[in-house]
Amino acid sequence: MSDAIAYERIGDIAVLKAQNPPVNALGQAVRIGLIEGMDRAEADGVRAVLIYGDGSTFFAGADIREFGKTPLEPYLPDVCNRIEAAPMLVVSALHGTALGGGLEVALATHYRVAVPAARVGLPEVLLGVLPGAGGTQRLPRVAGIEAALDIITTGRHVGAAEALELGVIDKLAEGDPREVGLAFVRELLADGAPRRPVSELPAPTPVDFDAIHEQVLRKGRGQISPATAVRAVQAATELPFFEGLACERALFRELMETDQRQGLIHAFFSERAVGKLPELVGVEPRPVSAIGVIGGGTMGAGIATAALLSGLRVALIEMTGEAAEAARGRIEGNLSGARKRGKISDAQYAALMGDALAVSTDYGALADADLVIEAVFESMDVKKEVFARLDAACKPGAVLATNTSYLDVNEIAAATTRPADVIGLHFFSPAHVMRLLEVVVADATAPDVVATGFALGKRLKKISVRAGVCDGFIGNRILATYRTCADHMVLDGASPYQIDKVLTGFGFAMGPFAVADLAGLDIGWATRKRKAATRDPRERVPTYADVLCEEGNFGQKTGAGYYIYEAGRRAGVPNPRVTALIEAERADRGITPRDFSDDEILRRYMAAMVNESARVVGEGIARRPLDVDMTLLFGYGFPRYYGGPLKWADIQGLDGLLADIRRFAEDDPWFWQPAPLLEQLVAEGRQFDDLNKAG
Ligand code: 3HC
Ligand code: NAI
Repeated sequence: MSDAIAYERIGDIAVLKAQNPPVNALGQAVRIGLIEGMDRAEADGVRAVLIYGDGSTFFAGADIREFGKTPLEPYLPDVCNRIEAAPMLVVSALHGTALGGGLEVALATHYRVAVPAARVGLPEVLLGVLPGAGGTQRLPRVAGIEAALDIITTGRHVGAAEALELGVIDKLAEGDPREVGLAFVRELLADGAPRRPVSELPAPTPVDFDAIHEQVLRKGRGQISPATAVRAVQAATELPFFEGLACERALFRELMETDQRQGLIHAFFSERAVGKLPELVGVEPRPVSAIGVIGGGTMGAGIATAALLSGLRVALIEMTGEAAEAARGRIEGNLSGARKRGKISDAQYAALMGDALAVSTDYGALADADLVIEAVFESMDVKKEVFARLDAACKPGAVLATNTSYLDVNEIAAATTRPADVIGLHFFSPAHVMRLLEVVVADATAPDVVATGFALGKRLKKISVRAGVCDGFIGNRILATYRTCADHMVLDGASPYQIDKVLTGFGFAMGPFAVADLAGLDIGWATRKRKAATRDPRERVPTYADVLCEEGNFGQKTGAGYYIYEAGRRAGVPNPRVTALIEAERADRGITPRDFSDDEILRRYMAAMVNESARVVGEGIARRPLDVDMTLLFGYGFPRYYGGPLKWADIQGLDGLLADIRRFAEDDPWFWQPAPLLEQLVAEGRQFDDLNKAG
């Protein structure tokens, strides 16, 4: 008998215990064990079977590591059908998370009991597939079409109480899953409860599936699995159960072959791998319970909010009393938003705005701080002055972090007598919402300071990516390059609006010009001015955006930038002034504008992004390609279903991308220098993902 399922006979009840840590994924051994267990229970002539999971959870789903490989028998739908068809009563006891195939196994049992903390769900669409073991056929039969469509197309986790209300589970009981399960089985046997196969329940009533399909497709911004799942649910209303199951299986297999499935699985595993670095093994982070934040503008207030929400005490330092109160106001605004969205209660809000937060102009307030994050103006002189003051004010061992976007963390560290304690913690705006945190490791940063950065990121529920020091670190450096590519295309004839449309068509929530309007055009303007002195004369930098700024147009915050924003509307309309400035600049430079096809725009933009990403990995600024992928996914809105720019590049084929770059270089050899790592991988016939596996 497979070791993954333990069989025990208790009187006339057979107990099947899953033991496949860490999450009891339904790998082949577990599936074999379930079939063997059911066969043995039947041979033993028991009156009932109880299925539950050992450790922290019921089955958390199919074993995702088997995806993309030749399917191994027995297949999960057959296992589920075997369980459901058993002649005796079959009951499942759920704890932890019963997800995907886990919930499908539970739905194949005749009755379900759960502990109150359990969660259920069918998150398959988030992995680019759909429930492939009866979930789309059985869930609508127990929960109704509306709830099933919601659960299946969003992949959300459903708490036990809601699951009980929806009829997904039959009973809630506090306790150990085994005891809870056995008690329920005994109760059912005593009541003479009949077998109750979900497949025999009446088919649910159809709804307007075409309209729902359309709506889900639009919401998915190019992601196909949720909309495909709608069709599988539709089959539950139109076909007899086993034909519906076959339809579900066919759609599941179709999705399994897609690039989107590859991209989403890559994202799933990379999200977990990103914080696992050899340099952190066995390194204890320093304890952090109180933090300091210097500067309470957009970023400082957001960072303070994130810290408060995760239970840290915050001392925030500003330049003047008014600025300190303004910072408190910003934090208050952020926290009331969290309260309105139900993320925190009124009492929590009051506590966070009370004792947990102190605003001040006195660096003495930092005496207790275990870690301080500086978020003052982006100026080296100001940052150096602040770090010298931190050096004097903070206790020994306190971690001193900068939120700089571009500046040299080594130079900032040198302003202190303790560069080993200095690190970059680069948050993204709004810092209490955006998931990405770049942990920027400078030359002298101590390993336990790096570990502390990652531990803080985890506490703040961020995806933390290790980055080395360079202008812009991982994300902003790559952004600068693909933005430059977009600027070049504008100079040569494309419009910002066409470029934005192509990129939203690709799956980004916003195109680069709309993003610039949102972030504020003054940021790019300041960067261009900063870089002007050291700029290579071969670099082409348009000036029309500078004129736009000189005229006071900084994007959304001033009502106009590349787009014009009417009061109360988030989406803008193209700004005719921009078109006029671009035409004037082309005329000045003697450029005859040419047409760009949407395809060429996408090819150039993505080639620029991939090429710079390869450079960032090649130079060791990012340790692995997956670090770049997670940076772009969580900080820059790269569509998750492509997995990230380097996963996308692998899927497209690196040789084609390199050929594109070489072709573009014929016109602009300075900008389109192929990254050595890209050339090397193509020469060796390897992919970026090979480097993830190696490291
Ligand atoms: N298959 C294989 N490995 C899995 C897995 C799965 N379904 N789910 C989790 N793991 C692994 C993780 O990769 C991680 O491995 P690592 O320690 O080597 O990094 C380990 O289990 C622990 O996972 P987490 O770090 O995510 O642990 P958490 O406690 O934070 O979260 C969880 C647990 C909520 C179960 C979360 O892991 C999760 O959401 N897992 C995926 C659930 C899922 O999507 N299930 C559906 C699968 S598709 C399916 O069932 C198809 C079917 O319809 C045919
Ligand atoms: P901001 O201008 O909104 O806020 C800066 C704040 O710092 C102001 O409130 C100012 O009063 C205060 N300040 C300046 N000097 C100070 C000093 N010596 N002591 C105490 N307070 C001082 O700027 P923002 O946007 O919050 O940026 C701050 C830092 O974060 C910059 O380094 C920026 O590059 C970086 N950053 C900004 C992002 C953004 O999208 N705005 C994203 C990520 C990083």
